[in-house]
Amino acid sequence: MRIDIQKIDPAQAKPIPTEGFGFGKIFTNHMLTRHYSGADGWMNPQIEPYGPIPMELSLASLHYAQEIFEGTKAYRRPDGAVNLFRIQENIKRFNRSAERLAMPTMDEEEHLDCIVTLMNLDEAWVPAAPKSSLYIRPTMISSEATIGKMSGSEFLFFILLSPVDPYFATGFKPISVFVEDEFVRAVRGGVGDAKTGGNYAASVFATKKAIKAGYKQVVWLDAIERRYVEEMGGMNICFVYGDQIVTPPLNGTILPGVTRESILHLGRDLGYQVAEEMIDINDLMADIKAGKVTEAFACGTAAVIAPIGQFGYKGEQAVVNDNQVGQVTKHLYDELTGIQYGRIADRFGWTLKIDGVN
Ligand code: COI
Repeated sequence: MRIDIQKIDPAQAKPIPTEGFGFGKIFTNHMLTRHYSGADGWMNPQIEPYGPIPMELSLASLHYAQEIFEGTKAYRRPDGAVNLFRIQENIKRFNRSAERLAMPTMDEEEHLDCIVTLMNLDEAWVPAAPKSSLYIRPTMISSEATIGKMSGSEFLFFILLSPVDPYFATGFKPISVFVEDEFVRAVRGGVGDAKTGGNYAASVFATKKAIKAGYKQVVWLDAIERRYVEEMGGMNICFVYGDQIVTPPLNGTILPGVTRESILHLGRDLGYQVAEEMIDINDLMADIKAGKVTEAFACGTAAVIAPIGQFGYKGEQAVVNDNQVGQVTKHLYDELTGIQYGRIADRFGWTLKIDGVN
């Protein structure tokens, strides 16, 4: 695979911002695209200046949502180099999502090469500001111009880079969440465990409802009994019972988060008990009120680890840990981000150091 690179004319290059990124609003000077056709397979990728591309509005993906994506980050290390975090996990998940959505998979090494080459070109965009990072968004859409078929034999893979602050603008402060008991995100046998846009579209209505009611995020229950906690509107969820960290098991409807898995691994290593268990919402509300649930937090690439201070369910409120950040949450946050940013030695081999040489 040869990656063709067309660098931006320096006169056209955007200045590199150093702070106040928000999330997903600013994009670097370059992007990568790679086309696939049923006849020829994957073509050589191209890197070119970031900008709009011409496309027909009949693209199948725009109508039938055959789309998948990934989210991973590059972190600025204290020595000035850059870390990618568990990038192989994202690449593997991308291929699993592709298979589920009947899209072509991509050779893992080639996918990595695409990310690293683009990253190296725009390496200066990896922020040095604390808690910020460069979000990497590999995406694939069905790109055949037809509304007569759900899918065709043409696909477009692309990667965007975006300097970001943590997803929740409130920072590392507890958020309030609304447990949705009417609408559901995903059902077993569906696409809940694939990273596909439809799952996110399905969360918009309930999230708006939650925000209108004064909450920050929605918590989903299972689609059959509306009883067991699954995940949140774009991230996983964990509970702390004393020294035990509990999260719902991956039963086919939950996104297998890389951050979620890292927390389970890290938690065990730090001496906590770790369990993947079904969590009945009625038990959970009672356990929070009884003080048995000592902490709760959301986790994901974008959200990192976000403490949860309050749950609303069927008109009842339950406050966790007096709406304060808990010790276990803080411990996990410090360890995880320490490894990601290269402040703590990586004892798990999770990071890939990028040298910025193109
Ligand atoms: C991520 O955490 O990477 C996601 O894709 C979540 C999205 C809501 C930004």
